Amino acid sequence: MNLKQIAAEKAVEWIKDGMTIGLGTGSTAFFAIQKIGELVKAGLQVKAVPTSGSTEQLAREFGIPLTTFAEAGKLDITIDGADEVDSQFNLIKGGGGALLREKIVAAHSKTFIVVVDESKLVPTLGTFPLPVEVIPFAYEWTMEEINERLQADFKPRMKDGQKFVTDNGNYILDYSFGTIPSPTDVQEKLNCLTGVVEHGLFIDMADIVIVGRADGTVDVL
Ligand code: 5RP
Repeated sequence: MNLKQIAAEKAVEWIKDGMTIGLGTGSTAFFAIQKIGELVKAGLQVKAVPTSGSTEQLAREFGIPLTTFAEAGKLDITIDGADEVDSQFNLIKGGGGALLREKIVAAHSKTFIVVVDESKLVPTLGTFPLPVEVIPFAYEWTMEEINERLQADFKPRMKDGQKFVTDNGNYILDYSFGTIPSPTDVQEKLNCLTGVVEHGLFIDMADIVIVGRADGTVDVL
């Protein structure tokens, strides 16, 4: 039993004919996209906005019709994974580097459903490294200022020996705080820093959290 799969497939039950949907990014969102693809083949009529290039490719492979915000307006439902979820439904996202589009899509959705296996539930956010997306231009200064302000040690995310580059052409800085007692405090400090595009704290955004449990059950929180 794949816990990510049972959570993701449960979330797909919220999708009805005629809806516009946001498609998340990552290994849990994959199962939702796969299931939606099956339902589309069976006649479900939906249009989707993907949160990353990889999700766009998957949606095309599974035959899910795509749309744009210009055409769709506010989306009905977005289904996405998360790296950590606390008891207030605050999240850390961006392990896959898609946090900017994920946040935009979630913010413009009537219902944002988060799908996770139970290992993602935490009492306090902060063990998973918090990603911050920054403009490459003068990123060293941006990183220094973030580290000073937050008393942290953010470092560029690397991939194959090179700095990881997001779908938006930016860099990601990561740092594990251990615990983040006040996510809003960290958010406020990051929000007003020049050079920061977005960060992976999703505070007060999730409407529903669906959890795949090790005993094979699914909780809708
Ligand atoms: C990508 C994300 C993902 O939702 C998050 O990393 C969870 O991924 P997975 O479902 O593979 O564990 O935020 O940017």
